[in-house]
Order: sequence, then structure tokens, then C-alpha cells
Amino acid sequence: RKKVTLQHLHALRSARTPITVLTAYDFPTGRVCETQGVDVTLVGDSLAQVCLGYDDTTRLTLDEMLHHVRAVARGSRTPLLVADMPFGTYLASPEEAIGNAVRLVREGGAEAVKMEGGLEIVETVRRLTSVGIPVMGHIGLLPQRHVMLSGFRAQGRTAEGALEVLQTALALEDAGVFAMVLEAIPHTLGTYISQRLTRAATIGIGAGAGTDGQVLVWDDMVGTWHGGHKAKFVRRFADVGAEAARGVQGYMAAVRERSFPALSESYGMPKAEWEHFEQ
Ligand code: KIV
Ligand code: NA
Repeated sequence: RKKVTLQHLHALRSARTPITVLTAYDFPTGRVCETQGVDVTLVGDSLAQVCLGYDDTTRLTLDEMLHHVRAVARGSRTPLLVADMPFGTYLASPEEAIGNAVRLVREGGAEAVKMEGGLEIVETVRRLTSVGIPVMGHIGLLPQRHVMLSGFRAQGRTAEGALEVLQTALALEDAGVFAMVLEAIPHTLGTYISQRLTRAATIGIGAGAGTDGQVLVWDDMVGTWHGGHKAKFVRRFADVGAEAARGVQGYMAAVRERSFPALSESYGMPKAEWEHFEQ
């Protein structure tokens, strides 16, 4: 398989071939993206909740993100590798954003960065792309701003709200993003924005089937653990959580009845040596 480039993603978009994006947080999940042929591996800041147990993404530091980006980068080499910029690492100024994006690229091995926001980050996006760091936008529901948004709610569901999301998408495209995540917006708006944009690919999560690609959080997609609220847009394509629980139960039962380890899972010793030892 050939290395996925920005040009390759543009070609997929032009050919109307849906782009597959999946999050990964460590070496094994990065490896699966590699071996199964995912187009884009995203080290999302959902890392905060699904791997590190924080309540929301605002807790995640750049150093924590870097630690995981490095692990994913070792496993995922062919897909384009995108890393989320954690909350508070790109908002103060374009200079701050450049400094931190450079760390994700140089120390982490990321090939592009993703950031949440609208018109207020357009100048930063322009600066990053001008110095050669590809940027993926993220509009609609912005999890880093869930307090300001009064919760994790779908966006752009009024005519006025939809217009705002559209204008943001157009401004980000103009600033040079190669793609943007559209999170939790009406499917009609997701399709409309995808058609209105001329260059940037739209990657939907809760934005309907009309976007140029889709993204899901690894743990939601494979059902690593259940519990907590399951968003409307999540589809569980596997149930690893149930399978893991079954494994743990089987292991404990086998230990308790001494059927594990079996003789074939144990080491032997020549009889003569044993007899010599016993004397
Ligand atoms: O952090 C994340 O996993 C994301 C994707 C769901 C788009 O931002
Ligand atoms: Na994110």
C-alpha cells in the first residue's frame, strides 16, 4: 500500500470515494489502522476520556498527547497521521499554535494537526499552513467548549445556526485547511457544506452520509467499554467489551479450578535431573 498523502485524499474526494478516518491512541490501535488500510489515523483528544479517564478533553496536556502520538506513529505509517491540538495549546496566538504544532510534528511524528474552532482561529490556520503544517479543521459541536455550549449538543439546527456553520466552513477552506471534521450537525447541512466546498474534504461524525468521509472514536466503534452516554451518531461495529469480559471470567474460573495452566503450558525437566534435585 502506498503512503496516504494530501494529494491522495483530494483524489478520493474528487472520485467521491468516502475517506475512512479512525482514531487511535497507542501502538496496537495504530497497527490496526495500518494493517486494515484506514486512510487517516487521528490521535484525537478523545484520548482524554477513553484512555486516560478524564471527564472531558480540557484536562489533556500537550505532553500527554505527545506521549500517545509517538506510540501511534510507530504503528501507523501508511495512513496520514493527524494529531489533535489539546485545549489551550493554540488559542492565545498563532505563535503559540505554531510552537505547539511543531512539537506534535517533530517530537510526535504527526503529519498534520487538527483544531476546533471557527472564525477566531482562521488567522492561526493561515499561519500554520503557510509554514507547511497541514491543518484539519473541526466545526459544529466543539467538545473542548462543551461548557460554553451547555453540553454536547447538535449544532446548526436553526437557519441562523446552519448559516453560521456554513460560513465557518467556507472561511476555514479559504484559510487553507485540507479537510475539516463536521461534528453533530443536521445531515442536510453536512451534505450541503460538502457540496459548497471546492477543495477541503469534509469528515463527518454525526453529520450524515453525504460528507466526503467519516470518523469514529476507536472505543465507540469497537465497543471497548459500555457505560456512559452513547451518542446518536455512534455505531458499534464490534463488541470487544463483551468479549474481554468473557475472557476475564474464563481466566479467573480456570485459575480457581486449577485447569490453568495445563501441563502443555508448563515447563518440564529431565527425570534424572529431578531425582538428583530431590536427594
Ligand atoms: O478527539 C476526537 O476523537 C475527535 C474525533 C471524534 C473527530 O476529535
Ligand atoms: Na477531538
